[in-house]
Amino acid sequence: MQLIETVAAVRAFGAEVRACGKQLALVPTMGALHEGHLSLIRAAVAEGAEVVISIFVNPAQFNDPADLAKYPRNLQRDVELAASAGASAVFAPSVAEVYPAGFATSIRVGGVSELWEGASRGASHFDGVALVVTKLLCMVGPDVAWFGQKDAQQVAVIRRVAADLNLPSRIATGPTVRAESGLALSSRNARLREDETRIALALSATLRRAQARLDAGEHDAAALASSATAALEEAGARVEYWAVVDPDSFAPLERVEAGTPALAIVAAWAGDVRLIDNAALTA
Ligand code: PAF
Repeated sequence: MQLIETVAAVRAFGAEVRACGKQLALVPTMGALHEGHLSLIRAAVAEGAEVVISIFVNPAQFNDPADLAKYPRNLQRDVELAASAGASAVFAPSVAEVYPAGFATSIRVGGVSELWEGASRGASHFDGVALVVTKLLCMVGPDVAWFGQKDAQQVAVIRRVAADLNLPSRIATGPTVRAESGLALSSRNARLREDETRIALALSATLRRAQARLDAGEHDAAALASSATAALEEAGARVEYWAVVDPDSFAPLERVEAGTPALAIVAAWAGDVRLIDNAALTA
């Protein structure tokens, strides 16, 4: 396992991998690794790739400096976990390596980035994600980059950017990893108190119930959303949104119909912890 801090060194690593005739995979993260990240590393290894995992807490995607300051950082632990999952290198650049003095470029992604997470977290959130992911792909030059489906809108934004800018890397996704209780794994879960964990479980429960209601004949997206929102509020959550959307454009859908892909998405607060989750709905 190599710990790499510069663009020049990560490029040299990629060149060595290719000289051996192997594929290079990148798993971009902000650290605080959990089983969701490790499952992406394992999926990339299973395809036969050498895996670089990047660990970079990206200032450009935080609207609130206090949030950035309190983001958990433990490089040693993350390096050990990444190695145990089969990564060959950790790329952990400094802020100055990624955004050197004089840096003046931005990326604005319209459409898919505007609603839901974009509206809740501010337009600059997805601009910052798009910028750093584009930079990581240019710095590392992987054949494939892996992202978790848990951040479904982020994946849709990254796919849009990759298509629009003709980025040569394939964008791959791994399924949301869940605890036995159904709770989607997230680095934020560590902040949940016991009573808040009970509230948090309601998010995935509403997604399962929506599929059950759909199976029972309820195809109207607004009806599915209003009963899910009521159930979340009843459980004690503060709901930001619960909606049914097109999984590529994130435009709201009015009905869930056979043959039309639909994704149920939710963001809600359990105490002072903001959580998101999503699930495909199949009519
Ligand atoms: O999902 C994340 O951890 C981040 O948004 C990402 C994709 C690593 C970009 O900073």
